[in-house]
Amino acid sequence: MIKAFIFDLDGVVVDTVGYHFDSWIKLAHSLGFKLNDDIKEKLKGINRMTSLDIVLAHGGITASQAEKIEYAKQKNDWYLESIASMNDDIILDGVKEFLISTQKEKLKIAVGSASGNARKVLSKTSIYSKFDIIKDSNDAKHSKPHPEVFLKAAEALSVDPSEAIIFEDSAKGVDAAKAGGFKCVGIGSADILTDADIVMDNLTHITADIIVKLLS
Ligand code: BG6
Ligand code: MG
Repeated sequence: MIKAFIFDLDGVVVDTVGYHFDSWIKLAHSLGFKLNDDIKEKLKGINRMTSLDIVLAHGGITASQAEKIEYAKQKNDWYLESIASMNDDIILDGVKEFLISTQKEKLKIAVGSASGNARKVLSKTSIYSKFDIIKDSNDAKHSKPHPEVFLKAAEALSVDPSEAIIFEDSAKGVDAAKAGGFKCVGIGSADILTDADIVMDNLTHITADIIVKLLS
């Protein structure tokens, strides 16, 4: 029996993927190289330091641990600056209505995110209070595709992975969901989210009861 939905944040609940990527582009530029669009997909779903390693490798840059911490901080400062004046406009289409339908089904609702800014970002919106539990990279040692953050969210909701459905827009996040024993709805392209149980473009025109029926 499905008792909970656990949502990834960036790219599923809020439209922040572009802001993250623009901040990485800025960092790359400050270090003297360009980031191509083809790296964007690779940066989805993984935590900041893991993303930084990918970005630096792309630019052929070797950095000390102290430099990496400084670069990650700089990227995050730019990211936070770019979302500073955000409000409900950042919520992706269909999400508000979908959360309402989830509540109607009496399902518990959580976030399981690779970001360290999940609470900060959600607190800019009116949907913050809809989430019973928020778990992000501050709560998990391992980055997706490790299932830790989803398992922590399920545990905090007192549900078994078999009783929860994950919503994810990244391949790494789908892998994390499957590794944790969860069913997974992919949000995005079926060509990329190949291991998701079902894939949809977004959460418009769908309600929680239909998802439960499809994945039960
Ligand atoms: C993930 C995003 O949710 O969080 C990544 O998909 C991002 O793009 C990662 O890099 C880490 O986010 P933050 O906010 O801790 O830098
Ligand atoms: Mg995401």
